[in-house]
Amino acid sequence: MTQLSPGPHDVSHILGDLNASRADREFLAHAEMHLPRLHALFVRLYGQRPDGVERLASVVDLARRSWTERPRALKSLDRERDSTPDWFESERMLGGVCYVDRYAGGLSGIRDAIPYFRELGLTYLHLMPLFESPEGNSDGGYAVSSYRRVNPALGTMDELAALAADLRRAGISLVVDFIFNHTSNEHEWAQKAVAGEAGFEDFYLIYPDREMPDAFERTTREIFPDDHPGSFVQLDDGRWIWATFYHFQWDLNYANPAVFEAMAGEMLFLANQGVEILRMDAVAFIWKQLGTTCESLPEAHLLLQAFNAVLRMAAPGLLFKSEAIVHPDEVITYISPDECQLSYNPLQMALTWEALATRDGRLLQQALERRHALPEGTAWVNYVRSHDDIGWTFADEDAAELGIEGYPHRRFLNDFYVGRSEGTFARGVPFQENPRTGDARVTGTTASLAGIEAGDAGGEDRVILAHALALSTGGIPLLYLGDEVAQLNDYGYADRAEEAGDSRWVHRPFRSAQSDADRTDARTPAGRVFSRLSRLLAVRRSTPELAGNDLVAFDARVRSVVAFLRPGDSGFSVLVVANVDDSAVEIDALTLSGLAPEALDLVAASPVWLGAGVTLGAHDVRWLRVRTR
Ligand code: GLC
Repeated sequence: MTQLSPGPHDVSHILGDLNASRADREFLAHAEMHLPRLHALFVRLYGQRPDGVERLASVVDLARRSWTERPRALKSLDRERDSTPDWFESERMLGGVCYVDRYAGGLSGIRDAIPYFRELGLTYLHLMPLFESPEGNSDGGYAVSSYRRVNPALGTMDELAALAADLRRAGISLVVDFIFNHTSNEHEWAQKAVAGEAGFEDFYLIYPDREMPDAFERTTREIFPDDHPGSFVQLDDGRWIWATFYHFQWDLNYANPAVFEAMAGEMLFLANQGVEILRMDAVAFIWKQLGTTCESLPEAHLLLQAFNAVLRMAAPGLLFKSEAIVHPDEVITYISPDECQLSYNPLQMALTWEALATRDGRLLQQALERRHALPEGTAWVNYVRSHDDIGWTFADEDAAELGIEGYPHRRFLNDFYVGRSEGTFARGVPFQENPRTGDARVTGTTASLAGIEAGDAGGEDRVILAHALALSTGGIPLLYLGDEVAQLNDYGYADRAEEAGDSRWVHRPFRSAQSDADRTDARTPAGRVFSRLSRLLAVRRSTPELAGNDLVAFDARVRSVVAFLRPGDSGFSVLVVANVDDSAVEIDALTLSGLAPEALDLVAASPVWLGAGVTLGAHDVRWLRVRTR
């Protein structure tokens, strides 16, 4: 066993071995480029370990074998991506997300839905967790028992690979979750770890008594307090194991490089099935250290970068999307070409809802101004809502500048969205309400949160406004499939035993044949929302200014108006203006005087004269092509 040395010695040794083994030339080129980086990361993560060099060499060998097995079609996709590295920043990008069973029964049903995905213009399809997982409650599949087997109720791994190829032919990239912070308690690694099998003892964090758990819990946060307090659960034999989320989701111990190697193997396996984007689940939690919050530690980044370097060698076309639903200062730290190229934008999502509730666009406007910029070669995934709850992740410091106090404001938003405040239009349900801390989050479909369920007159407009923002701020917009036909909450979850304890199921309705049929009927909310949204989707596709991430905040001088410019070529920009108020407002001519008066309303396809100001109706949103003077 040899320890890693910080100098180039280990790298040249491993490269020498690769040369001697006559590794494929392309792989060698990838290794020459990325191995030094991987090595440096290993030195920082595992420099103290006696088995450092061996582990690094076996990870590289794993990558080499995986590249050898990589299907030819995927290698040619790798090359294509390499020659168009900004492919995911195009105005034509559009994501969709759904549960395989709820949306289509199984993988074959998803294949049958491809014509509809094309009709919508999807170029990215995130299928919610579809791996083998425990019967009953499996946290919607986020407790994985095998990364190499598809849940038999949905299909097989061969079908998944075939589906990936079909999707690719239709211009759609397959996205799946990479749930690597934890496995289910039924995963074979978990079983072996509990049994103390050699090589697996340190795969998880298991302690004989409460001493270490108590010490850790002094500084960690409770994530699923409805399920269990703290970060640990007790095993049948009395020992304690780390479980951040549900009691059956056991956190892996990445301080052990064998865990890194094992997970890298699962990741490369998925890459070779044709997955093009991995949604990196729960990234903030992957490294633990006593005396810290055990969230977003520096090593969490090093680990992600190390996975990234492994992929660049063996499946270079693949991207990572970070799922960090944390403070905005932290969200941004996961985003870089060497770490996660894509990231959810939870701040924009939450503040869109915040603005709709308060009828005040300032917090969202401020976030667009100061928290929107990203490093080159990366992009936001902008969404209106996801399969998870909405947490109010804005920075208290930002809010304070506007005279808003974080704690009571979050309270107000929770009450508003769960229908507890007077005059609210929202029909959400609380999630993980913690009476001790007063903390809570909100669940509900877009249509139910926006007021359609309550029959509020502004409901449909709010759905459109929220989507118009997600579609125009840049990056990849992501639709929760079913929202485009205004599906409402599914209260039936409360009667289904394995869902009743988790209110997020309220906003994960089964695909509704009725709503789908209604989408062509303008007398229904589904029909009206679908046709308005389809128009926005079509306009986005043909508006190059909406590609990329360049955004210049525009001060419309109206409290309820969110406004920004998306600069394009040859002096033209798209000006987006959205009014979150329930009544009409006016942006005056003086405010618009930096723009040429002739403008084009892209959605209405009609000219607009800015010389007299612009009136925005209640919840009105406009995409105007303008010329700056
Ligand atoms: C992520 C998922 C969420 C899940 C959790 C644990 O946050 O989005 O649904 O409960 O990870 O895997």
